[in-house]
Amino acid sequence: MPAKSMEELVALCKRRGFIFQTNEIYGGLQGLYDYGPLGVELKSNLKQAWWRSMVYERDDVEGLDAAILTNPEVLKQSGHEETFTGPLVDCRSCNSRWRADHLEKSACPSCGSKDLTEPRPFNLMFKTNLGPIDDGTSFAYLRPETAQQTFTNFKNVVDSTSKSLPFGIAQIGKAFRNEVTPRNFIFRVREMEQMELEFFVKPGTDEEWHQFWVKNRLNWWSKQGISEEKLDLYDVPKKELAHYSKSTIDIMYKFPHGLEELEGVANRTDFDLGSHTKNQSGLSINAKVVKNTSSNAKLAIQDRETKEWTVPYVIEPAAGVERGVLAVLNESYEVQELEDGKERTVLSLKPHLSPIKAAVISGNIGKSYRRHDEVGTPLCITLDFQTLEDQTLTIRNRDNMEQERIHQNETAAYLQEIIK
Ligand code: GAP
Repeated sequence: MPAKSMEELVALCKRRGFIFQTNEIYGGLQGLYDYGPLGVELKSNLKQAWWRSMVYERDDVEGLDAAILTNPEVLKQSGHEETFTGPLVDCRSCNSRWRADHLEKSACPSCGSKDLTEPRPFNLMFKTNLGPIDDGTSFAYLRPETAQQTFTNFKNVVDSTSKSLPFGIAQIGKAFRNEVTPRNFIFRVREMEQMELEFFVKPGTDEEWHQFWVKNRLNWWSKQGISEEKLDLYDVPKKELAHYSKSTIDIMYKFPHGLEELEGVANRTDFDLGSHTKNQSGLSINAKVVKNTSSNAKLAIQDRETKEWTVPYVIEPAAGVERGVLAVLNESYEVQELEDGKERTVLSLKPHLSPIKAAVISGNIGKSYRRHDEVGTPLCITLDFQTLEDQTLTIRNRDNMEQERIHQNETAAYLQEIIK
């Protein structure tokens, strides 16, 4: 059963220490959230599951952790300076500002007026000053996606690992977007984490690999406990595609506020490597790229047998960590009516995602069970007087609430079986 409303999830997250509004004691800061003691574990478990499936379980993917502050030249070449914009409108009645494409019925969400200015492009990148002098000449961008730092490291990774096509570079890290209307809790935020794989393939094999990664990612989400009925695929129409994409399939999830993008799987062609490479005219590049006069690296790969140079195509599965956390919370949250007429709130998280795998409790057992159900702890272990006599313990299962008595020597094997 899905969460009844976003408000219930927000309340649970605060009550149990998953997610807090940032700087709440000073009135907060819009579109920014902090992860509390349990939230940080849930988020980290989701990222680990992604890293395990992308990097540890594949021979053809390497990991990377690149800087957040980015040389403006990178984001000029990538097209972000010019095209990473949202359409901004002002409400002439109450002077509030909105993203035109997020408005319902073209009306101001604040006062309902339809007297809005014409949309004008607003760049979503954050800038910051580098060094002590703030004269606007020495600045860096906070990266709007992890991907560009992966492309600029392409040669470093190829040279240091001797990879040949197809292969990928995976990265998890912060990305920043000055969203005009951040909203829906952690769904649309200004500071987020992304889990992005840039998978480099031979031109001509790109469409096949695109399909492969869509299936792979759907499968992974289902292993995180996301039910298939709440997932959908959206083949992004040509006019909505990002400037770098030949084709994008969005993996959509039925969030509490509606069916929205959880992850995008894009065919970025040879646009990015082609834009960042030196010697563009000496290479065969299919995409319409930005002319490059400043890069010092050839971002192409040489076939070991034919010795031909190829600018690879890129297939990119790009997921947001926050949206993943919101989806698994929504999916696992349930208020159940019990036989005795009482209610319990339970988060039936997959055990590998649970912040606490097993809780050892004594004392107020009923209350402890309720607390651990609410934070998704799969098992509670109780020690009592009988434990002192025969070294047995009670293990109580979160999902079916059944209890078993096992010998303490069997506990480790029992836990491993459940948690794996
Ligand atoms: N490198 C490709 C890229 O960044 P994107 O569709 O703009 O593509 C990828 O972003 C994913 O990042 C999205 O599917 C979403 O999960 C997440 N994301 C994007 N903007 C976000 C925001 N403002 N808040 C939370 N998550 C966001």
